[in-house]
Amino acid sequence: MSPRTRAPHYPPGPKQRFPMQFVLRFGADRLGFLQEMASYGDVSHMATRGLHFYLINHPDLIQDVLVTHHRSFIKSRALQAARGLLGEGLLTSEGDLHLRQRRLVQPAFHRQRLAGYGQVMAHYAAQAAGRWQALGNGATVDMSQEMMRLTLGIVGKALFDADVEGEAAEIGQALTEALHAVNRLLLPGGELAEKLPMPANQRAEEARQRLDSTIYRIIRERRASGEDHGDLLSMLLEVVDEESSGGAPIPETQRSGMSDEQVRDEAMTLFLAGHETTANALTWTWYLLAQNPAEERQLHHELDRVLAGRLPTMDDLPDLTYTRMVLSEAIRLYPPAYVIGRQVIEPYEVRDYVIQPGSTVFVSPYVMQRDPRYWFDFERFDPTRWAAEAQARRPKFSYFPFGAGPRVCIGEGFAWAEGILALATLAQRWQARLVLGHPVQLDPLITLRPKHGMRMTLHRRGI
Ligand code: HEM
Repeated sequence: MSPRTRAPHYPPGPKQRFPMQFVLRFGADRLGFLQEMASYGDVSHMATRGLHFYLINHPDLIQDVLVTHHRSFIKSRALQAARGLLGEGLLTSEGDLHLRQRRLVQPAFHRQRLAGYGQVMAHYAAQAAGRWQALGNGATVDMSQEMMRLTLGIVGKALFDADVEGEAAEIGQALTEALHAVNRLLLPGGELAEKLPMPANQRAEEARQRLDSTIYRIIRERRASGEDHGDLLSMLLEVVDEESSGGAPIPETQRSGMSDEQVRDEAMTLFLAGHETTANALTWTWYLLAQNPAEERQLHHELDRVLAGRLPTMDDLPDLTYTRMVLSEAIRLYPPAYVIGRQVIEPYEVRDYVIQPGSTVFVSPYVMQRDPRYWFDFERFDPTRWAAEAQARRPKFSYFPFGAGPRVCIGEGFAWAEGILALATLAQRWQARLVLGHPVQLDPLITLRPKHGMRMTLHRRGI
């Protein structure tokens, strides 16, 4: 019998006891719900309001979804929801448009280009250290905001040669509003709620306008200056669509580049995808270091040995092995992109089941990266899991914080360099400790944020 004609037969999974139960549960405890689904097996299922959701939780099967059989899927409802904010940028576009955008943006992330960003990364981190110095030993900060400000500054400068760090607080607030709006849309029934004249929707619209005005200002200033800064923004503005000209050379006068709106979508995408994720990874790293003084000491030992007080550069990356292990482990426990969704577009066979088009398939770095089958004592922060031999013993897709396949994170190399250089610069001089009684709770918005921020006191090392 062909997959199309086989009678529906669903994998095990939680069953709804009253209407809307899963909608409420998913809204209130998304991570717990995903973990509960995983407890039913490698392939689990739940249905609500006529929609079917699957969680696929085995390394080989995850590889099939993201890489081997990626053509059976498109990105899910989740991203359609984000389209209001991100337009048709790299993260949200599909098919040929996605391929074209990816090809256009890719050169900004080539190895040689990354080398040039190293200086920006260390420079902005050193500025943050300067601010901490001015606040004084023992000062209290919200580490989450500190890291957002830092990574926003870095992505703005590296990719757009724009100084947005000073506007970080306002941009950050606008982004949070906008992300809450996307998050509301993700809940079943969200499309309807979005159309209601609720204050939250109005705030989200205002936030979007504020973000737009910053980005359009950057674009306007660049177009007016006519200068080629050799950065991503210049590339996008000058882009020549070779494909539409059939590969023929295009005369100078007909080179139009992307429209402001297309550039805006790409810029908004990179601002958002490029700062929120790395900021969360760094925030959780500070938290874990504060809880694990032995590992923190080992990190300090490496930083003192390799850097001896100077700022790190890209050339130091191969020597900062423990620093990378610390980050890898933090991203294992708190993967910023905790779930990746796909919508099925043709009948998809997995194990004994056939998943029908229209269903949603989730794979979850958060769930897989805490799976006791692959991670001994999985809750423990243990950077030595990243020693080469230990890594070689695990299946590749037991860890996939950056996704895989044609939609793999374009900024992965950028993020590793940024994370390592920022941590090395700051942890060389500073330690952070959680403020007593500060509640640490996960807030799986679009990325995995700490719900109440991360209030920490700063302590100068060696004092
Ligand atoms: C720790 C930091 C980061 C993590 C964990 C992360 C994670 C991810 C993941 C899991 C995806 C794939 C989503 C999917 O398959 O549906 C993705 C895509 C993407 N990321 Fe990242 N990311 C990080 C940093 C960055 C940075 C620094 C940038 C840019 C400067 C960036 C830009 C993007 C873009 C544009 C996409 C869409 C790629 C496409 O669909 O072709 N990310 N990221």
